[in-house]
Amino acid sequence: MASVVVVGAQWGDEGKGKVIDLLTEKADMVVRFAGGPNAGHTLVAGGEKVIVRLIPSGVLRRTRCVLAQGMVIDPRTLHDEIQTLEARGYLKNDELVVSDRAHCILPLHVTIDTMREQGAGAIGTTKRGVGPCYEDKMARRGVPMGALRDLSRLRGLIERLTDAWAPVAFAGGVKLPTVQETLDAMAPSRDRILPLLRSTAGLVDASIRAKKNVLLEGAQGTLLDIDHGTYPFVTSSTATAGGACAGAGIGPTAIEHVVGLAKAYTTRVGGGPFPTELTDAVGERLRSVGAEFGSVTGRPRRTGWLDLPALRYAARINGLSSLAVTKLDVLTGFSELSLCVAYDTPEGRTTEFPIDALDTAKPVYEAMPGWSEPLGAVRTLADLPKAARAYLDRITAETSVPLGIVSVGSSRDETILLSHPFGA
Ligand code: GDP
Ligand code: IMO
Ligand code: MG
Repeated sequence: MASVVVVGAQWGDEGKGKVIDLLTEKADMVVRFAGGPNAGHTLVAGGEKVIVRLIPSGVLRRTRCVLAQGMVIDPRTLHDEIQTLEARGYLKNDELVVSDRAHCILPLHVTIDTMREQGAGAIGTTKRGVGPCYEDKMARRGVPMGALRDLSRLRGLIERLTDAWAPVAFAGGVKLPTVQETLDAMAPSRDRILPLLRSTAGLVDASIRAKKNVLLEGAQGTLLDIDHGTYPFVTSSTATAGGACAGAGIGPTAIEHVVGLAKAYTTRVGGGPFPTELTDAVGERLRSVGAEFGSVTGRPRRTGWLDLPALRYAARINGLSSLAVTKLDVLTGFSELSLCVAYDTPEGRTTEFPIDALDTAKPVYEAMPGWSEPLGAVRTLADLPKAARAYLDRITAETSVPLGIVSVGSSRDETILLSHPFGA
């Protein structure tokens, strides 16, 4: 009987899908509260792999799945995802509901996002139209999903957006889809999604009042957050725990536990600062052993050592109650591991994450011994090699956040579960 938020503590792809699928065993409802089809959450159960972009990671458990109003939703992607999951035997009942206040990504948002990524100002987005859609939401001219119910209102809103973006498209030398092309492209998905639309904040509130277990699923990660990330190389939503309140429509007092996820090393996909990045053979090895390629775009992820000041920063911004460390198995076979413990800045050494001075700050590393044993079969801390245990102890000591979960493989069972945020 709790509301638990799960967020990424790094630059995304920390393994949220895996951990949420695991924790959903005890959840009555899973609510995606931010982001859109820029996310790619991988679930592996019974040898089967499913990647979800919009649908919450509770979908394999037949739990009620809510796409809440903090999200931006491309109806075509959602429709594709529903069809794929249905073909695999999921979503047979009425598990899925979609907020009528979430915002609709139109084909023109994808055109604008893609156009901007060709230019000098590229930030390495996923080109899924997420940024331009959030811009329209904030400009108070966006298309709420509820507008799909009324074709003439929908047409009017699309006309307005097409006019608003026309000068930008003209300056960038691209052609926007016409209003009719947009309506035609959305027609099949509109029919499928209309019956799913609800006022979801009330549903989430009712579950909380009924003392059900509600899991609030974050997307992206702390350092991609619009306010707290490495701006401007960020996404356009609140990816941190605070976003769960606004995005799902609940009050902060409803949240009892915040789980932060971090890989045992660091990755980032897209541009922007990444102080502990490794561009050598070590980085290449992390990428190949960790299969670090984007689940949505297939782009190779940048890789690097674990950044403890960044993790402390994430603990602070999100108010983390517990930490889940993933992909510890990927570090097997290194004779020595480096950990960033501090930064040297022009003002001196600091153990804070220098979020506003990352271009000049230099990471300070400490070495720790590695281990050679594979970890995939380990299910208790006691069975871990001593060096792996020491590595985790160091993370706990440096972040002052209790360790709740250690993941040692991509499937549900490859997990050391120390404490369940929904209780025993
Ligand atoms: P998300 O966006 O945070 O859900 O993470 P992604 O699914 O994009 O990326 C995480 C990748 O790591 C996926 O391919 C997962 O299947 C995989 N993964 C998750 N946890 C582990 C783990 O503990 N060990 C290994 N080797 N792979 C993992
Ligand atoms: P999950 O939920 C990793 C990154 C993009 C780019 C920046 C802005 O799977 O962890 P956007 O398309 O959002 O405008 O791109 O954010 N990005 C992610 N990186 N994981 C994600 O999601 C991401 N979602 C966006 O690569 O750098
Ligand atoms: Mg991902």
